[in-house]
Amino acid sequence: MGQHKNKLKRIGFSSSFGILAATLGSAVGLGNIWKFPYLTGANGGAGFLLVYLLATLLVGLPVMIAEIALGRQAKANPISAFEALSPKRQPWWLIGAAGMLAAFLILSFYSEVVAWVFAYVVKAISGSILSSDRHVTEAAFNALISDPLQSLLWQWAVLLFIGGILLLGVTKGIEALTKKLMPLLFALLLLLCMVSLTLDKAAEGLAFLFNPDFSKITASVVLTAVGLAFFKLSVGMGTMMTYGSYFRDDQDISLTTLRVMGADLCVSMLAGIAIFPAVFTFGFAPGAGPALVFITIPAVFSQIPMGQLLMVLFFVLAAVAATGAMLSLMEVPVVIFHERFGLSRPRATLLTIVLLAGLGSSCALTNSTLEDFKLFGMTMFDLFDFVSSNILLPAGGIFIALFVGWVWGIDNFRKAVTNQGMLANETTARIVFFLLRYVTPVLVLVVMLKGLKLF
Ligand code: TRP
Repeated sequence: MGQHKNKLKRIGFSSSFGILAATLGSAVGLGNIWKFPYLTGANGGAGFLLVYLLATLLVGLPVMIAEIALGRQAKANPISAFEALSPKRQPWWLIGAAGMLAAFLILSFYSEVVAWVFAYVVKAISGSILSSDRHVTEAAFNALISDPLQSLLWQWAVLLFIGGILLLGVTKGIEALTKKLMPLLFALLLLLCMVSLTLDKAAEGLAFLFNPDFSKITASVVLTAVGLAFFKLSVGMGTMMTYGSYFRDDQDISLTTLRVMGADLCVSMLAGIAIFPAVFTFGFAPGAGPALVFITIPAVFSQIPMGQLLMVLFFVLAAVAATGAMLSLMEVPVVIFHERFGLSRPRATLLTIVLLAGLGSSCALTNSTLEDFKLFGMTMFDLFDFVSSNILLPAGGIFIALFVGWVWGIDNFRKAVTNQGMLANETTARIVFFLLRYVTPVLVLVVMLKGLKLF
C-alpha cells in the first residue's frame, strides 16, 4: 500500500511569506502563551529558561531543519516519507506512526486548553473575570474547569471549528488566518508587557525570570525543558515534516527555521514579561500550574483603561494562535488517513475529529467527573501531556536526528539545506549535520534516561 497513493496531487504553500507565516502559526500557540509561563513558574524561573534556551538551540533547531528537509524531499506524509527515504525493510516509518500517536495525545489536552481560551472570550465579554483580586480570578477558572458539561461542550465546539477550517484546505485555511492576525497578537502582548512593567513588584517578577537559581535544576526539570523546546517548535512528531512537504523548492529552510525560532522565542518572552510581574504584585503562586495564565492575565488587564475590551481581544488572538497550532497538529493524522488509508480529505478530517472528541473528553473531564481516575499517579490530562512532551517528542527527535545523521547522510542533507547548491548555506549545513549526527541523539538520550530515572 502507499506508493501510488503518495502521488495524489498535493497543494503546497503558495508564497515564501505564506510558508513563513504558516510555519510560525504552527510554532506559536498555547505553548508560548500558556505552557511556557506555567512551566517556567513551576520550575523555578530563570534557571529553567536558560536550560530551555540551550535545548532549543542544540536540539530543537537542528531537528526542525531536519524535519523540514526530509518532508520537502519526500513530499509526503511522515509515514510515507520515511518509507520513501529509507533503505528497504528498515522500519523508520515507525517514527511517523509514533508521531500520529503523539498528535492524538497532544490534541486531546491541547483542545481542552483551547476550549478554556474560547470560554474566556465569552467570560471576558461578560466582564465577570476582570479583577485584580486573585480569589475572584481563581474562582472563575475553577468554576469553568470543574464543570463537566461546560468543559466538554467547549472542547467539542473547538473541534468542530477547527475541523471546519481544515475542510477549506491547506493554503486557504491555514495561510489566510495566520498571516493576518499574528502581528496583532504580538502588539497586544507588547502592550501587556508595558503595563506589567509598571506594576509594584515588577522588579521581583523580572528577577524571577532572569536571575537563575541553579539549585532548582534537577534531571526531570531538564527533561521538561527539552520537552518544551520540542513542543514549542512543533518538532519530534512529523508536523514540521508535513509542513516541509508543502515547502517550495526555492525556500531557504535554515533561514525560515531561524526566523520562526526567533519569533517564537520573542512571543514566549513577552508572555513571560507580561505575566511574572503581575504574579508577584497580586500574590499569585508562580507554581500555580496550568491555571497560571488564566488567573493572572485578567489581573493585568484590570489595571488599564479599556481593559475589558482589550482582554476580549487578547483571548480572541490567543484563540487564533492556538488555532494555527492545532491545525498543524491535526494535519498529521488527516494527511496520513488521506494518503495512507485512501480516505478523502473531508472524511479523514471527520474521522480525526470524532476520534479526538472521544479521546479528548478524558482530558476535558479531568477536573470534574474523572478527577480521581489516574494512571501512573497522573490524571489523563497530565498523563497525555507527560507522555507526549517528555517521551514521544524527545524520542522522535532522537530518531529523526539519527535518521538524517546516519541513514540519509551529509550529501542529501547538504543538498536540501543549500537548495542543490543555490544557497551559500554550506557551513550551516555542516554544523547542523554534526549536531544531528552526534550531539542531539546523545544529549536527548541522556536527558531522557536521567529525567525518567531509568539510569
Ligand atoms: N507548537 C505549538 C505551540 O506552541 C503546539 C504544536 C503544534 C505542537 N504542532 C505541534 C507541539 C507538534 C508538538 C508537536 O502551541
